[in-house]
Amino acid sequence: MALTNNRHIWYPYTDMNQWDSSTHKVITRGKGFHLIDSDGRQYLDGVASMWCNVWGHGEKEIVREMKNQINTLQHSSLFGLANKPSIELSLELLKLSKGMEHVFYSDNGSTAIEVAMKMAIQYYKNRGKPEKKHFVSLRHGYHGDTIGAMSVGYVPGYFSVYRPLLTKVTRLPSPTQNLSGCVSKLDEILEETESYLKKICPTTCALVMESGAQIAGGVRIFPQGYQKKIAELSNRYGILLILDEIATGFGRLGSMMEYLKQDSIPDIVCFGKSLTAGYTPLAVTLTNSEIFRSFLDRRAKFYHGHTFCGHPIGCATAIANLKLYRKRGLIKDISLNSRYIRNKLYDFQNSPAVSNLRHKGMLAGLDISRRGINAIRKKTGEPVDSFIFKNALNSGVYLRPLGKTIVLIPPLAIDRKNLEYLLNMVGFIIDKIERLL
Ligand SMILES: Cc1ncc(COP(=O)(O)O)c(C=O)c1O
Repeated sequence: MALTNNRHIWYPYTDMNQWDSSTHKVITRGKGFHLIDSDGRQYLDGVASMWCNVWGHGEKEIVREMKNQINTLQHSSLFGLANKPSIELSLELLKLSKGMEHVFYSDNGSTAIEVAMKMAIQYYKNRGKPEKKHFVSLRHGYHGDTIGAMSVGYVPGYFSVYRPLLTKVTRLPSPTQNLSGCVSKLDEILEETESYLKKICPTTCALVMESGAQIAGGVRIFPQGYQKKIAELSNRYGILLILDEIATGFGRLGSMMEYLKQDSIPDIVCFGKSLTAGYTPLAVTLTNSEIFRSFLDRRAKFYHGHTFCGHPIGCATAIANLKLYRKRGLIKDISLNSRYIRNKLYDFQNSPAVSNLRHKGMLAGLDISRRGINAIRKKTGEPVDSFIFKNALNSGVYLRPLGKTIVLIPPLAIDRKNLEYLLNMVGFIIDKIERLL
């Protein structure tokens, strides 16, 4: 079937003036770790289809369970009714999530954050402290594209036009570390954080932050100990901690639940993306019994719900996915592949074309150096991100850089041969830039 790309679809995060059907491929199939376009060309999925794919495309065991569910019950809502897959999945999730006792379902990461924010505000109202209604978050954080999520994860380059819609949020500095160790002044940041939290705690209900690393904000990996300290400070100053594991949970950073690895039990934690292996939309907001009980004590309803809360197909998919994690020992494989990625990245460290290499688990970020960016623009006339995107695509790899940053977020279970291809392709792009210098 010949498919032509067109402008009738308004694509996300896209300047439609620059919509170019020759570079924007129409994907018609997925096979293993590859996406296949309408001309039959294959592209290694280097960003796990927006950071959510786990097993590659067409994993039979999950597809079988999805089909079983489709044949049994396609959808039934959680408004006044329950359904079996959502009950089973909640039990599975709570087994994994120490400290959490209740699961609220939604259908994407942004709404999971909205749920968390609404829970936090209402919790303090339930407890007779309605003045605690403000949020604090971290600079460089990203939490999604809905109103609350944009407010706490304000990225000026993306969201300034929507400012009139947003609620005012204080944003604290956040640390980051690269391959050669911590590059931020951790002690100073923690001191500033503590003095600020102390000041604003009477009117603040929650601190919202990504767990383990900030990805969209530039692949910033938190140094060990930072998140634990934040959890202690939030607790000390009576500010709820909302952790966003939408992109970092379920193995992306090498651990099933990053908050447990970081020894930082939150009050509320959000998951999405890899929860269903990237096969269906589903997200969850988990919380503890203290927050849940405050609603019982006040006989208060939580006024939030979506048509697709607890969607049976999504939940059955997630159950099948989590079963495969256990059966195949995915977290162990990730630790081996993570070591492999790190060793490969060391090879790029001395190149004048790149700087500031970051890595954890199945996530890596490399910045093209200032010299590299200038050389690309001067010699090819291209902005750095489109240079990377096009060169990757020509080598059969789908990558989506964040500005000057090459971001590697492969499917979590990627095999060694394809992982090697992905990293070699990065080496090829770096060589190409070096030749332009
Ligand atoms: C950390 C984080 N939170 C929230 C979101 C929003 O998730 P969704 O795109 O499913 O709304 C994302 C998406 O990339 C994310 O990376």
